[in-house]
Formats: sequence, C-alpha cells, structure tokens
Amino acid sequence: MLDVAILISGHGSNLQSLIEACAAEDFPARIVGVISNNPEAYGLERARAANIPTSVVNHRDFDDREAFDEAIDQQLRSFKAKFICLAGFMRILDSRFVTRWRDRILNIHPSLLPAFKGLHTQERALEAGVRFTGCTVHIVRPEMDEGPIILQAALAVDPEDDADNLSAKVLKLEHVIYPEALKLMAQGRVSISGNRAVIDGARYPEQGIISPVPTS
Ligand code: GRF
Repeated sequence: MLDVAILISGHGSNLQSLIEACAAEDFPARIVGVISNNPEAYGLERARAANIPTSVVNHRDFDDREAFDEAIDQQLRSFKAKFICLAGFMRILDSRFVTRWRDRILNIHPSLLPAFKGLHTQERALEAGVRFTGCTVHIVRPEMDEGPIILQAALAVDPEDDADNLSAKVLKLEHVIYPEALKLMAQGRVSISGNRAVIDGARYPEQGIISPVPTS
C-alpha cells in the first residue's frame, strides 16, 4: 500500500477523484494527509468529510520559499507520506525539495504537455487554434510543468467551445486519468528512463485519432 499526501490550493475536484479511487478496497494507494497552502481551500472540506487528516501550511507565513518547502516537508514526514500528488497546488516547489522527493511526486496539468505550460491553458489553446486539447499527469521535475509523462487524455476542440466549457470538459478527463496514473505508480509498473516513463504491461492503441476533416 502506497501512503500518499495530496497538496492542494483550491477547489479540490482532483483531490475528490483521488479520495473516491482510494476508497476502493483493491486500490493500491491510500491518502494519509492533505496539505493546503490556502486556508480557505474548499478541498480541505472534502478531506475532512472523508476523515482524512489536513494541514494548512500558508506560504504567507514564511520569509522565503526554502522555509515554506521545509515546513511542507516536515508535515509530509509527520503524515508518514511516501508519495505526493499535486492536485491544483498553485505554488512552485524548489529544486531541493523536488530532488529530495525525486520520482515520488505527480502533478496534473490541463494541457497536452509539453504544449501550454503554465496558466490559462484553454484560452491559449483556443487562441492557437489547436484541434485537440487535454490533460497530462507527469512526474514532477524542478522546471514548471516538466517531467516524464505518465498518462494523457485528449479531446477534440469544438468550434463552439469557449475557455470555460473547454476547461470543464478537460477537468472531467483529469478525474479519470489522475487516479489511473496513481494506481500505475503504486503498482510499481512505471519505470523512468531519462525523460520517458515506460509502463509495464500497458497496451497502446495501434491507430491514432485524427483531427476533423472536411465533409465535402
Ligand atoms: C486543474 O485543472 C488542475 O489540472 C490544475 O488546477 C486545476 C485544479 O482543479 N493544476 P481542482 O482544484 O482539482 O478542482
């Protein structure tokens, strides 16, 4: 059983999908604690409702990032966490922290990485006129939104989509792939080779999907 801590900053819908997945008897991971940098995060309510220990480590209480990261690290150790999922956690963790937890931190990002790192991904995807968008679960490296990709899910962009409904559609996919990716990690089925993650025993579709083509 893999003991996981979830780091959040806000709404916590990804946290909720992980709570629900971990509730299944045969799921190979369990959530030992939830840490938020934001005392107002709704995700803290979700954790409490599921009887999961919570902790607020407010970045505003620290002089610098190093001290903040150190406090997060201490809290993780007191939860006895062995693995971390960032789920809408809006702070950057410094390279010392990431190195200490190397290959033991996952993040979810609402784009098909390496495209559209950073914020406002669906606005930028629409501006760029992409035919597909989606989401990515990856291993965290010190550079923002970088690291070996575990799983991605894609969807075709509808010409009627605006950033809000596209974000909502992508978020639904996030809730599917994040628990799946955590499960693969907890099962020890992922090996990292350079910037690539190889999944043991995975079957990949032989034919890809294509973007919309003219009908006449
Ligand atoms: C998600 O889109 C996630 O990919 C991004 O922030 C959002 C958080 O949503 N990093 P929630 O807090 O999990 O509802």
